[in-house]
Amino acid sequence: MSRTQVAIIGAGPSGLLLSQLLHTCGIDSVVLERRARAYVEARIRAGLLESGTVALLNQAGVGARMMREGLVHDGVELAFDGRTHRIDLKALTGQQMMVYGQTEIQKDLADAHAAAGGRVLWQAEEVAIHDFDGHTPRVSYRHAGARQQIECDFIAGCDGYHGVTRASVPAGRITLHERVYPFGWLGVLADVAPVADELVYVNHARGFSLCSMRSMNRSRYYLQCPLDDSLDSWPDARFWDELRARLPEKYAARLVTGASIEKSIAPLRSFVAEPLRFGRLFLVGDAAHIVPPTGAKGLNLALADVGVLHQALVEHYRAGSETLLSEYSARALARVWKATRFSWWFTTLMHRFSADTFAYRLQLAELEYIAQSEAAACAFAQNYVGLRPPH
Ligand code: FAD
Ligand code: PHB
Repeated sequence: MSRTQVAIIGAGPSGLLLSQLLHTCGIDSVVLERRARAYVEARIRAGLLESGTVALLNQAGVGARMMREGLVHDGVELAFDGRTHRIDLKALTGQQMMVYGQTEIQKDLADAHAAAGGRVLWQAEEVAIHDFDGHTPRVSYRHAGARQQIECDFIAGCDGYHGVTRASVPAGRITLHERVYPFGWLGVLADVAPVADELVYVNHARGFSLCSMRSMNRSRYYLQCPLDDSLDSWPDARFWDELRARLPEKYAARLVTGASIEKSIAPLRSFVAEPLRFGRLFLVGDAAHIVPPTGAKGLNLALADVGVLHQALVEHYRAGSETLLSEYSARALARVWKATRFSWWFTTLMHRFSADTFAYRLQLAELEYIAQSEAAACAFAQNYVGLRPPH
């Protein structure tokens, strides 16, 4: 049986960042990942980082390429009823956002981790966690054909929504809150110039759409679509026609189309598990909570959890204190619930839920209010750039 201080399940952004941060403080960890490295790095997901996330990646020493290649955005546009309204995030909050893809973060983290001699067991099968209520938890797994075990002080469950760690908690000790939305997002990545310099969130009678980007020659677009749609029914030409139909005229005229390099449909869901600590097991990131992507909060929340848990583990190993470990769940959840509320609200404001014209007119009235009232725009901006932790 081998040993480490912190066993981390999952080598997504949460697991790798936690391992890297712990390494910079001299704390040993092992990461166990079910998939191959190439598979994890190919998943197209989030693209927008809050300034707190940028600071954390820099603190871990993995931010150099992001600072060179990432795009800094001072504002964001809301489009509705054929018009657009820009929210000046920088003027309203003093904060900016960074456009830098999760795929790039994933590569930067894996490179830095490998260079620092960090241990990731890619393609670890049958991962199971044991005795997390006792003093010496264990993780068992199969790797390269052999069954093995690691003994540790703590287990970090960074294994995403479908992972094994949350599922290992007895049902009576965990509360799950969930909301499933009656539509999905169809996403397309294409090597074409974006329609605008900043992101454009579009409320349209035909359904929501979003114009995002990865660089000034790589665009990421999304369309609200029925949950039961299949990718076969969305050839590129249909995607571009539908997007054009939902965009305000000035952007429709500027839309550059091209072959898609990735196309996927993601269901929209809100989900929060409480609490996030069970003895020596801590749930982190998507293992603990999911938000619909409308507010661009999923990755930011996941990495914020990592920051809070890292501080607590450092305090434990340096000062022998349990205080921050015992506060992890409450501190992380305080942020999670505010982001869950914002993501739910923004999703509700921007999507078509039914043919109900009353609901649609209310959405337009609220969007007009945001466009007219600096207080309303400021409330939006504060949530969008990310609320600071309460303590
Ligand atoms: P994950 O990235 O899910 O990583 C978990 C890792 O654990 C995975 O590598 C998985 O293979 C591994 N794992 C799972 N089970 C096991 C096991 N039993 N044993 C070992 N390893 C295991 N957020 C945004 O902000 N904007 C977006 O546009 C956006 N789009 C998204 C689209 C999709 C399809 C999905 C799924 C998520 C999206 N998100 C988005 C959310 C964002 O990508 C996540 O919040 C982020 O990936 C969370 O990181 P994580 O490390 O906590 O979890
Ligand atoms: C993305 O670029 O993938 C993206 C950006 C903002 C969102 C969601 C997704 O709200």
